[in-house]
Amino acid sequence: MNTVAEALDIKITKTAESRLAQTDFSNLPFGKQFSDHMFIADYENGEWKNFKILPYGEIPLSPAISALHYGQAFFEGLKAYKHPDGKIGIFRPYKNAERANKSAERLSMPELPEEIFVQSIAALVSLDRDWIPTQDNHSLYIRPFMFATDAALGVQPSSTYKFVVLTGPTGPYFSKNLKVKIENSFSRASEGGFGFAKAAGNYAGSLLPAREAVKEGYDQLIWTDAKEHAYVEELGAANIMFIIDGKLITPSTRDTILKGVTRDAVLTLANSWGIPVEERRISVAEVIEGIESGKLTEAFGVGTAATIAHIAEIGLDDKLYTLSDPAGREFSNRVFKALNDIRYGLVPDEFGWNYIV
Ligand code: PLP
Ligand code: COI
Repeated sequence: MNTVAEALDIKITKTAESRLAQTDFSNLPFGKQFSDHMFIADYENGEWKNFKILPYGEIPLSPAISALHYGQAFFEGLKAYKHPDGKIGIFRPYKNAERANKSAERLSMPELPEEIFVQSIAALVSLDRDWIPTQDNHSLYIRPFMFATDAALGVQPSSTYKFVVLTGPTGPYFSKNLKVKIENSFSRASEGGFGFAKAAGNYAGSLLPAREAVKEGYDQLIWTDAKEHAYVEELGAANIMFIIDGKLITPSTRDTILKGVTRDAVLTLANSWGIPVEERRISVAEVIEGIESGKLTEAFGVGTAATIAHIAEIGLDDKLYTLSDPAGREFSNRVFKALNDIRYGLVPDEFGWNYIV
């Protein structure tokens, strides 16, 4: 049906009945609606094979697969946008392909050639193009993931895996400005661990602390370093950035922090605008002092699902700090618009970020 599918020799089985007409595009909470088709590939005998696009649905699996027992599983997240000329732009898929392989390596899983990652997504998105929503701030969320499928209970790397891609129409992950808590008891990731990987287990470990925070009225956590809980790392589902003294400051990436694709795009735009950028360690004390002195004028999350998410309030221990009114923030609102203009194909793509299908 299209050249990318032919290049990978993807066998396509189309759904007999599209669910598109029954889907309410005016109500698209994150991750609840799935498009008609999914992509699946198998890793066996040292190679990726059996490239298939099938109707979205259940996958028969043994209850003994090692992904379920020992967590050999990771995922990625990226988005496709409809452009005014009818073309589709997928935002920086090679960056996600690169990070997928970093996750795979750390979890002793097989490398996935970047072209398989990108072309499988392009073929799937092209087939389900009518699922891409067009209202403001909406897009097609793409969820590639890999998991171990050996039915064996020994603790060792699996010899077989599946790589699957799902897509679904969505609005932004957060529907409001965030009230976040600086977490200084639980840890998300430690040095020598795998916080930099998009490992399923990183998210499992974050659920209890996040639930505790939600009980206290927060939306998300700001994770801090595991050793001292003195330095800011990232949010639960996004990287974090601050404007302090007119400078854009974000924690430098390390083995405890996910190297976000959105983070990279925001830093690139800021640099191109001549805004001073600092990637370095940021202490909790510096953040609190910045709020108290008024030097910290903006705080926000940056991520694929989160987009640019303003932080309105920050809690530390029993104190709650209210930040500036998000509506009046200069940098985060500017970068939000600039990124959207590129993603939705409204301005020239000067950095070559859109992979056009
Ligand atoms: N940090 C965490 C823990 C995330 O889950 C995400 C979301 O993917 C990010 C950061 C942002 O990464 P990206 O911009 O590549 O989506
Ligand atoms: C993404 O932004 O793609 C993510 O993976 C965040 C997700 C954990 C909701």
